[in-house]
Amino acid sequence: MFLAGRQPDAPQEALQVLDIVLRELPTARYSPVSRSFYSPNLGRRQRLGDGLESWRGFYQSIRPTQMGLSLNIDMSSTAFIEPLPVIEFVAQLLCRDISVRPLTDSDRVKIKKALRGVKVEVTHRGNMRRKYRISGLTSQATRELSFPVDDRGTVKTVVQYFLETYGFNIQHTTLPCLQVGNQQRPNYLPMEVCKIVEGQRYSKRLNEKQITALLKVTCQRPQEREKDILQTVHHNAYYEDPYAQEFGIKIDEQLASVEARVLPPPRLKYHDSGREKDVLPRVGQWNMMNKKMVNGGRVGHWACINFSRNVQDNAAKVFCHELAIMCQISGMNFAPEPVLPVLSARPEHVERALKARYHDAMNASKPPGKELDLLIVILPDNNGSLYGDLKRICETELGLVSQCCLTKHVFKMSKQYLANVALKINVKVGGRNTVLVDALARRIRLVTDRPTIIFGADVTHPHPGEDSSPSIAAVVASQDWPEITKYAGLVSAQAHRQELIQDLFKVWQDPQRGTVTGGMIKELLISFKRATGQKPQRIIFYRDGVSEGQFYQVLLFELDAIRKACASLEPNYQPPVTFVVVQKRHHTRLFANNHNDQRTVDRSGNILPGTVVDSKICHPTEFDFYLCSHAGIQVGFSSFAMCSFDKMC
Ligand SMILES: *[C@@H]1O[C@H](CO)[C@@H](O)[C@H](O)[C@H]1NC(C)=O
Ligand SMILES: *[C@@H]1O[C@H](CO)[C@@H](O)[C@H](O)[C@H]1NC(C)=O
Ligand SMILES: *[C@@H]1O[C@H](CO)[C@@H](O)[C@H](O)[C@H]1NC(C)=O
Repeated sequence: MFLAGRQPDAPQEALQVLDIVLRELPTARYSPVSRSFYSPNLGRRQRLGDGLESWRGFYQSIRPTQMGLSLNIDMSSTAFIEPLPVIEFVAQLLCRDISVRPLTDSDRVKIKKALRGVKVEVTHRGNMRRKYRISGLTSQATRELSFPVDDRGTVKTVVQYFLETYGFNIQHTTLPCLQVGNQQRPNYLPMEVCKIVEGQRYSKRLNEKQITALLKVTCQRPQEREKDILQTVHHNAYYEDPYAQEFGIKIDEQLASVEARVLPPPRLKYHDSGREKDVLPRVGQWNMMNKKMVNGGRVGHWACINFSRNVQDNAAKVFCHELAIMCQISGMNFAPEPVLPVLSARPEHVERALKARYHDAMNASKPPGKELDLLIVILPDNNGSLYGDLKRICETELGLVSQCCLTKHVFKMSKQYLANVALKINVKVGGRNTVLVDALARRIRLVTDRPTIIFGADVTHPHPGEDSSPSIAAVVASQDWPEITKYAGLVSAQAHRQELIQDLFKVWQDPQRGTVTGGMIKELLISFKRATGQKPQRIIFYRDGVSEGQFYQVLLFELDAIRKACASLEPNYQPPVTFVVVQKRHHTRLFANNHNDQRTVDRSGNILPGTVVDSKICHPTEFDFYLCSHAGIQVGFSSFAMCSFDKMC
């Protein structure tokens, strides 16, 4: 009835039943992880480093579409813990032979973090391979550990116990033991008798090296991915799946064929003083050659600070100079010299150095006390926590615009890199790189006919295992009209894993002022009015990162907040709101019907940016469509990322 349009709401339970039926067989064959299935035999397993490896697998779900019920299959890869002896795992994790030097405190923390919750099996009892889950690490070395063996207070050391009970002579007596079982009655297991159980997915944060390695195995040209998907469907042999048969489910082994349209690229306006005053991107790409930013920002006072041990004498100075020149060439009003010579500081002293530098620069500027417009920061190539600390201090304590550059780029100093960084700096100091010709000419329907503000909102959640970190909500809103190019942003920490954005609208009691209202929407609406002199008569709200199960909850709560924020400005102020949910993490892949047709694919084989699909494979009632919003980008190695297709509802 739902698929035939005779019932408005999707019958979630019925869909779930069909989904479960089709998952039954793969669940027995493979390792299920949420909606995907992985196996060490579905393609090569690949080492990711530090005791992790990648397994290949596939995503599978039943979806209601305008064509009826569809089976959504996509290839995927994820990280698993290598089924190594624990001693070997720890050696890989610490990158050294652990029998040589005793563990340091930080080694211990690292091991504990990596192993907590991991299942191991014991190897010292022949075929009795009992499994345990690791709950911690002992603070003492194995040779110092003892425990009561009976109720009369007889105590035995772990070393003695293993020798007497199992005839096993523990070698690594200086290492701590693994703790299994609960905290009241902990069980001690020497690392050397434990092996990690195969098939455990690793869901904590990967380091940069592991991410790069994982991307390398995930990245596939579209043509290969399509082949693998078809092969997976064939291999899964749904036609002879006894459960599917029992429920009368038949699955077509062909891919669905849909019609698509390719939207024309928007023409981009640059400054009239440049040799090229506008540009029409081709296949999602264009560059800044012979063009100037449409509004170059001003950087009168700037300084540079270096945290990288490897950056030699003149390199930092030369780099900053080249960057300043590139900013000028691109159209910014950028002072050629910093207000102070390059300062150096150690990463450990980031807070002290930034604050001292800030005051020095204030004193050195003319007139004194004038704030810095920009701080250029040279960072070591691999210290994410320094980046985080620096941004926190600059943005929440000093109110300082900063541009970080990695050491490797300071060495290479390529023109392309400098030009890209110039674009970032310009936006950060309030300039505009380009605007849409159609916006200036007021030719964008439902945007340029009357004052319209465009919002974007997202929430980032901490990784599993980082249980005390807050979720972070971010909201941006356009601050120019009709161009809709310049955005102001606000961020706000909120409760752990909370998807609904709490700070969109706020009411509180103030002892002096009585009832006060605020929140991110209200602030951004006010700053729009200040910047443009007009009240928005229309709101378009793009909301990222909402899972399908939460659509209506988010829509109701946040739309209500938008309405209240408007009403708090003026009693009858209720501009129409369009609420658009954007999803990047879905598994619908679109391939060109003919991979060799140059009119429908780019050089990597991805379908063209601007491709829109809004029929057949879309939801029967949710007004969704797929948009390939940018070109498939090369990600460093010789393969290409699959074009990201944004699904919008
Ligand atoms: C940059 O800072 C590091 C760390 O303080 C220092 O070792 C290095 O010598 C500095 N480089 C320059 C050019 O000052
Ligand atoms: C900067 O000026 C302030 C106030 O005039 C003064 O206290 C401080 O010592 C000066 N700092 C430097 C490094 O000159
Ligand atoms: C990374 O930066 C932090 C400061 O954020 C510092 O404490 C730490 O020592 C740095 N690590 C290295 C390896 O330099």
